[in-house]
Amino acid sequence: MGLDSHRLAVGDVKGYFDYNATSPMDVRIRDTWAISGPTFGNPSSLHKWGREAKELVEDARYRVGDVLGVSPECVIFTSSATEANNLMLRSFSDSEVVVSAIEHPSVAKVWDVPGGIAAVDASGVVTLANVKKAMGPKTTCVAVMAVNNETGIIQPVHEIGEWCEAQGVHLHVDGVQAFGRVNWDWEDTPFSSASFSAHKLYGPKGIGVLVVKTVDSVVPLIKGGSQEMGFRSGTESPALAQAMALSMELAAQEGPDDMAKLSEYRDTIMDGILNAFSDARILGNKEDMVATTLNVAVPGVRGEAVMMRMDLAGFAVSTGSACSTGSVEPSPVIMAMGHSKHEALESVRISMGRFTSEADVLRFIDAYVAAVMALKNS
Ligand SMILES: Cc1ncc(COP(=O)(O)O)c(C=O)c1O
Repeated sequence: MGLDSHRLAVGDVKGYFDYNATSPMDVRIRDTWAISGPTFGNPSSLHKWGREAKELVEDARYRVGDVLGVSPECVIFTSSATEANNLMLRSFSDSEVVVSAIEHPSVAKVWDVPGGIAAVDASGVVTLANVKKAMGPKTTCVAVMAVNNETGIIQPVHEIGEWCEAQGVHLHVDGVQAFGRVNWDWEDTPFSSASFSAHKLYGPKGIGVLVVKTVDSVVPLIKGGSQEMGFRSGTESPALAQAMALSMELAAQEGPDDMAKLSEYRDTIMDGILNAFSDARILGNKEDMVATTLNVAVPGVRGEAVMMRMDLAGFAVSTGSACSTGSVEPSPVIMAMGHSKHEALESVRISMGRFTSEADVLRFIDAYVAAVMALKNS
């Protein structure tokens, strides 16, 4: 094993255990991005240069639709999943939207006061019963993420989606941490709209996608041009669109093998930590978790201190969501699961991906145990 997993990675990934914040780039995606870059025409221009650029964007749109089982007209390229989430949810500004208590800030903070908040249970799952409880007669949209970015807990999107469909309620699914990590057939997943981001799938930053089955329900946030069928103005990037399409295709093709390997690594890390610290808390149930993510806390040891020690030892982990890194506020996601502020501040997120090797995992466990021991004794 060892270094082979690093072969396709751009950059030094040996100590990187923060894939949920962003993934290193895959050389295949970087190459597609670089090769498409020189097609410099404006996709809206009618001449040859413009047509060539347009063709790359439309080819990418077709391919993204294909991996999700939707027609290309349902695919809107955006700058990020944050924008995709905002674009969809703000389209429901005139009515009531229920969001789950564990959504990423790009969903949770769209409104100061959402129409309702669906609670999670102690294992981090948003149950259908809690969604129903949060809904009122005016609810027209429900937002439940597919996999939580901090805990890796997979949410019952199929059950919630079927129920929403029967009620005629729109279900928006933030699929950022799920695509390529859950063994779902997206074509059979009952979502009304979903968001994805290339930089969580080994692609570049700066492109996301909103997939929406009834595209007419979208109210544009950015107006001015007629790009993206009028739903998202601004000159498209053919190179980023191509990179997004390949990121999703590779994740769909290679996800199952990657996850088989990573679930063994996740278990090895879990066992290594529990053997060293029998009082360590693992958040959520293993059967509900994606293979890439483990959220762990050792009582009496602050997560932030572990993160800093691991950084000094050459390893990246995180506490709270990536977007709030640097903040010492406890994670609202972990608090929503019923943990105290003190407990939430002890949590550390360990996340892996395509390039993680067995050798990295073994070195990681040694470094983590040493860091926590040192902090316990300090
Ligand atoms: C679950 C989830 N949704 C949305 C986002 C935002 O994605 P982007 O960085 O493309 O805006 C993230 C990023 O951390 C995420 O983890």
